[in-house]
Amino acid sequence: MSFAKHPKLELHLHLEGAAPPAFIKGLAAEKKLDISGIFDADGNYTYRDFDHFLKTYEAACTTLQSPEDFRRLTLAVLEECAKHGVIYVESFISPDFCGGGDLTAWREYLAAIKDASDEAEQTLGVTHKGIVTCIRHFGAEQAKTAALCAAETAGDFIVGFGMGGAEQMNRPVDYKYSFDMAREAGLHLTCHAGEWGGPDMVRDTIRDLGAVRIGHGINAIHDAALLDEIIAKDVVLEVCPGSNVFLQAVKTWDDHPIEKLRQRGVKVTVSTDDPPFFLTDMTQEYENLHRVFGWDDDTFAQVQQTALAAAFCDDATRATLAKRLEPAT
Ligand code: ADE
Ligand code: ZN
Repeated sequence: MSFAKHPKLELHLHLEGAAPPAFIKGLAAEKKLDISGIFDADGNYTYRDFDHFLKTYEAACTTLQSPEDFRRLTLAVLEECAKHGVIYVESFISPDFCGGGDLTAWREYLAAIKDASDEAEQTLGVTHKGIVTCIRHFGAEQAKTAALCAAETAGDFIVGFGMGGAEQMNRPVDYKYSFDMAREAGLHLTCHAGEWGGPDMVRDTIRDLGAVRIGHGINAIHDAALLDEIIAKDVVLEVCPGSNVFLQAVKTWDDHPIEKLRQRGVKVTVSTDDPPFFLTDMTQEYENLHRVFGWDDDTFAQVQQTALAAAFCDDATRATLAKRLEPAT
């Protein structure tokens, strides 16, 4: 059974992390950059573990040097989304990789990304919104620069602020200034937590940063009181099962807590994170959820409604998406 045609919302996708390896290889050749070490013999990204994944990711990003590169990247990524039935995607975009945090440069990169997104909406029927993302291991000072970029460009396209990167680095409260700045600019907040960190990391992220969505959050499963809090506060988890298994945050698909979380009443959504890095896509995520946990059309429809309600878009966009999710009669 293929789920490719099911209309899907995806809330957790890193724009650079979704770059097809062939696309990055092409840019490297154009710019005469030698990053051959990040690819295996089959042309896929290769790395040993999560820390090495982050290094490989950053090496791939060295090929993305101009607004035009990001315009082409955005089109390539949204084409992949469309192939898998994604009608709405929120992607994480880092000012650190778009002009190094310089606000003027950031505006130019963003204009190019927005331009490609408008084109993709017309030609592919995929609506794309951006979540400005700071990178935890780049430190709290650099996060403030990303937050300023986010606050200055908050609007119809930039709808959120978040944080990815090495979760063991620093505590959430160290980034409070940045999250407060983003919130005051009207942005919605999400943050990676509980992918590698334990329940306390998730708890602190909700309390200190005010995140209403948590990227991954899977380790919350180990703490019943935290699960109660997540449910009471209506926090939504952006779960990326294929990513968790590939990076070995979870041993196997059978061990993945997504179904236990859902059964417990936690609001879960499904995303791919960095699909080519994990040899996945939304169709495969759906197929695995069907195969391993028996998710059927009703379960997927319920999870899509969760994603629809948790999307950071404006209500007019939400209403349009709601219509597109309705089953054909
Ligand atoms: N950046 C890109 N993918 C990530 C992940 N899975 N966790 C943390 N930071 C990331
Ligand atoms: Zn992520």
